[in-house]
Amino acid sequence: MTSHVHSESNWTRLASRWRQSDPEPRTDWNAYAKSYDLLSEYNPAYQELLQEFESVLPTVGKPGVIFDVGGGTGNFSQVAASRFPESAIYFIEPDERMKSRAAEKLSGHDKITFVERTFENFEAPTQADLMICVHALYTMPEPQARLQEMKRLLKPGGLLFLVDLGRPMDVADWRAYLFGHLTKELGFLKAMQIFWKGREIAKQNKAIFKSQEANVYWTHTAEEISSAVEKAGFEILSQKSVYRGYSDLLLCRAGK
Ligand SMILES: C[S@@+](CC[C@H](N)C(=O)[O-])C[C@H]1O[C@@H](n2cnc3c(N)ncnc32)[C@H](O)[C@@H]1O
Repeated sequence: MTSHVHSESNWTRLASRWRQSDPEPRTDWNAYAKSYDLLSEYNPAYQELLQEFESVLPTVGKPGVIFDVGGGTGNFSQVAASRFPESAIYFIEPDERMKSRAAEKLSGHDKITFVERTFENFEAPTQADLMICVHALYTMPEPQARLQEMKRLLKPGGLLFLVDLGRPMDVADWRAYLFGHLTKELGFLKAMQIFWKGREIAKQNKAIFKSQEANVYWTHTAEEISSAVEKAGFEILSQKSVYRGYSDLLLCRAGK
């Protein structure tokens, strides 16, 4: 297995946080990592996103190079890796704990490079045929510039599978939805146990909401994200509302 880690120094990261001097605390992705996969396991809305991804893969040919931007604990790369065992995957994820979880899941994939950096600091060694960016763009500084960067890092005709949280994160609404679902599927006691185990999720979702309110994180309508994507030079092949209306899914092709 060829597995590499490109790492930013702690100092660079601290300096960049200090420069940003956020008025609100940011999401602690490191703390979130611990319970993040409870989300994938027990949240049907998240499961649907993975199914959406699986359903587009037959249309993408055989991608030689895949970038997973803000890949988190590796759920989308895992799907890509099992469908495309020959593809080189660059997994771009600045949070060490998120990345470690992904590394466990992807240990069987031969050609994986872990880039422990923000997308802004990613020095791409090549262009990609397929780029995945799920629920990460809204957390990045200057999303329009990031979309332009995505376009630049894709081969002409390359595909971007983009899912982005656009609407404010209503923690009470998610709690009611998940608790209702879990109680129905597993019973009240088990639902309570899972909620306790995943209490960090609600905490970090509150932090996401605060960052959205403070305009540190990007909120957008479906129209706003489609015009941002087109402005960056993509053709939108399909677009739909997903994640219970909170997010937008766009399949886009990089123009020449
Ligand atoms: C909500 S998680 C999504 C993870 C994964 N894509 C998924 O859907 O399961 C957002 C991820 O974006 C990462 N992230 C935050 N800022 C980033 C940046 N500037 N560049 C790249 N990734 C970033 C976080 O560390 C976190 O793992």
